[in-house]
Amino acid sequence: MTVFNFDWIKKLFRDRELEAESRSETYSFKPLPHVSFYGPAIWAVGGGKGGVGKSLIASNIGILLARQGKDVLLVDADLGAANLHTFLGVDGGRLALSSFLKEEVSDIRSLVVKTNVPGLDLISGAKDSLDIADISTAKIARLKDALRKLEYDNIILDIGPGTSSNLLDIFLMASEGIILSTPEPTAIENNYRYLKCLFLRRIKTVADQQEDGQLKDMLQRIFSEKWTQRVKTVSDILGTLDELDSSQGSMLREYIGSTNISMIVNQARRPEDSEIGNSIRRACSDYFGVNICYLGSIGYEETVAESIRLRRPLLVHYPETRAARSIASCLNEILKKGASREPAGALL
Ligand SMILES: Nc1ncnc2c1ncn2[C@@H]1O[C@H](COP(=O)(O)OP(=O)(O)OP(=O)(O)O)[C@@H](O)[C@H]1O
Ligand SMILES: [Mg+2]
Repeated sequence: MTVFNFDWIKKLFRDRELEAESRSETYSFKPLPHVSFYGPAIWAVGGGKGGVGKSLIASNIGILLARQGKDVLLVDADLGAANLHTFLGVDGGRLALSSFLKEEVSDIRSLVVKTNVPGLDLISGAKDSLDIADISTAKIARLKDALRKLEYDNIILDIGPGTSSNLLDIFLMASEGIILSTPEPTAIENNYRYLKCLFLRRIKTVADQQEDGQLKDMLQRIFSEKWTQRVKTVSDILGTLDELDSSQGSMLREYIGSTNISMIVNQARRPEDSEIGNSIRRACSDYFGVNICYLGSIGYEETVAESIRLRRPLLVHYPETRAARSIASCLNEILKKGASREPAGALL
């Protein structure tokens, strides 16, 4: 019996979305400046649940890109349980990202260490665990600024699990966001919440950028309570905004809906597990009104766990395994879809 079928996922997305009341007011809003940025392509690997393979994917995608001749920087943004250096089999260095966030270090470049893979550098996370919620918004903005000025082709952020606003803002620094799930209902549920919080966070940023006016009032009301905990419908908010002046309304809708978010299902054990990604993609489109892309699945393999235990990166020491090939295929999907787009800026 399959319990994780589309009906179950649809119900998860639909029922929660229907819990909030609808709104009927009309508003006007200020057009947002076009976000355009040329510099390193910033990618983020995140998700709502811990232990699903985020660091595995971030490190191995970094290795693959470096092998393709790109200058790549991996950033361990999991400050609660930083361990990306272990995936790469290197010492994390004396300084870490936490030093920059705490303003103990002014130049982010002083945190960079070389890995054993030519072209792949690393900024490790935290020497001691640091609560991301304690970091101010201004410090997150300082990080974004510093990363954008670095001279790399790609920067890959490995983000810890959870939906705190700081984590979401770090994820949304990226032009390409990759969400990891496993086939377990718990991971799917956490990722439903993660996706929803990402979209709400994006809408909130739009609200913050507005000058005083009706739209700002409405959005402020929506976000006045502890919005990550209260049920709000993404589709309801988008629907209300869609009723705005048609050209500006569609621009805002497009802005909110054009997140380059992709999903990978990791630790798949049965053929039907890989279908879960398609179901989440469809549910996202039906109930959030937002398109995400499903990159593919990676099977559960003992070699993966062994490569981590031995601190030997999968793509370096076990490149012929099915898991290694699946990771390469997911990367190809990202590059394929990126090729048809402008080298655009951050999600927010
Ligand atoms: N495809 C796979 N096959 C077998 N084991 C896997 C696979 N992917 C991940 N694992 C196991 O899951 C563990 C967690 O992986 P990883 O550290 O990449 O997850 P994470 O999402 O980064 O976790 P955290 O949220 O704690 O940072 C690995 O140590 C490995 O043992
Ligand atoms: Mg991790």
